[in-house]
Amino acid sequence: MGQTAVAYSLLLYVVAPALVSIAICRGGLIPATSSSEDGSISWPAFYATYGLLAGLAYLTAAVLSFIYSPLEFYGDEGRDSYLIDKAQAGLSKEEAVAEMKRSRKIGDIPPVYPNGWFIVFRSAQVKKMETKYAHVLGLHVAVFRGESGQVYIVDAYCPHLGANLAIGGKVKGECIECPFHGWTYQGEDGKCVHIAYADKVPDFVKVKTYRSLEINGLILIWYHAEGEEPSWYPPEIEKIKTGELVYSGCWETYLDCHIQDIVENGGDVAHLDYVHGPQVLQKRFVNVKWEAHPTKKYLSTTYSETAMHWAFIPGNKIYHEQYGPGLSYVDANEFMLTGCVPVGPFRQKVVFMMYSAPASPFNLATRLFKKLKVYWSYLGIKGDVIVWANKTYRPKPILVKEDPSIAQHRRWFAQFYTENSPRLHPADSLQW
Ligand code: FES
Ligand SMILES: [Fe+2]
Repeated sequence: MGQTAVAYSLLLYVVAPALVSIAICRGGLIPATSSSEDGSISWPAFYATYGLLAGLAYLTAAVLSFIYSPLEFYGDEGRDSYLIDKAQAGLSKEEAVAEMKRSRKIGDIPPVYPNGWFIVFRSAQVKKMETKYAHVLGLHVAVFRGESGQVYIVDAYCPHLGANLAIGGKVKGECIECPFHGWTYQGEDGKCVHIAYADKVPDFVKVKTYRSLEINGLILIWYHAEGEEPSWYPPEIEKIKTGELVYSGCWETYLDCHIQDIVENGGDVAHLDYVHGPQVLQKRFVNVKWEAHPTKKYLSTTYSETAMHWAFIPGNKIYHEQYGPGLSYVDANEFMLTGCVPVGPFRQKVVFMMYSAPASPFNLATRLFKKLKVYWSYLGIKGDVIVWANKTYRPKPILVKEDPSIAQHRRWFAQFYTENSPRLHPADSLQW
């Protein structure tokens, strides 16, 4: 909690209730709390009033904060699902995870880190002058935001003696200072610019930097197994930039599976009715079509509509755009930004953010409804997560003619693997 937040909390929950309680007890505003005749305070009455007011202030603040702040939550649905049968056998969650790692057949999986743009953090998670450590795509990185607001991503380990720059390192202007001996590196090119105890900084001292991009409330990193520079960029969403859509909440989770299993969902037409429907009013998905974009190779799209139980209720049109392996935009009245990033060969972090039209501060019903929608969407995706976290990868699946886009999607996705894309060798359940 920052200093300002501590000051506000003290004022709201301690000072203000105390002052009001004194006023009530002194002034005898409530007969039961009235002071004795000489005007002194009745302490039992004061404590009772104070407790009541402080509790009321806390409750009011909690309700207001729920209404006015975005709904953000974090889950572990994948690993929770390992307990579905095993809890009865008396296993703890840790034991169930270990058991699953031992027994799960992961299959002959493709390379584990495809090339592309991936989410490292949401923008709000890295404040000005703050550093954060992340382990993604087999890289150990320090992410920091300079004084100007610019985000930089550098290798986490200091070239000097290997301290982690993100853990205890300080941001100085647009540089990061190591917490161990104070060597200072520029975020832009990684060059060491200051060693307080040395006469001269050797020219060659540099920390590795990574290409980053901050758009749509996300901090992205470019990963390419051959070290190539970005050949494409995901687009900025105009409606988010202009404030026509505002952030209404997010959900993040980790799960054990191959990244391709998550993205392939976009090309898997048949699963929609089984995992995501039918819901209360919705009958089924219709007119579902997956296609690779004809000119932008890194982009694929899924279009679908929902048919409703009653003809007079209009269905939803859902436009899903997948930008490379790590990022997707879903436009379905509400706007969803989702992405996954491998934090290990067989472990993914999934981020899901929702944007919607802004509601006036007095429109409590809409504000609450927006939260409900975030939660509703989470419930829909949770079904996928549990399947992904338990499945095997079939390199040669048996398909029927109604499944054409699975094979097409795999051909499309193969472009993100190159010669040196890391593989899990051997594809052994003990290795992940
Ligand atoms: S380890 Fe970073 S300055 Fe020494
Ligand atoms: Fe799905």
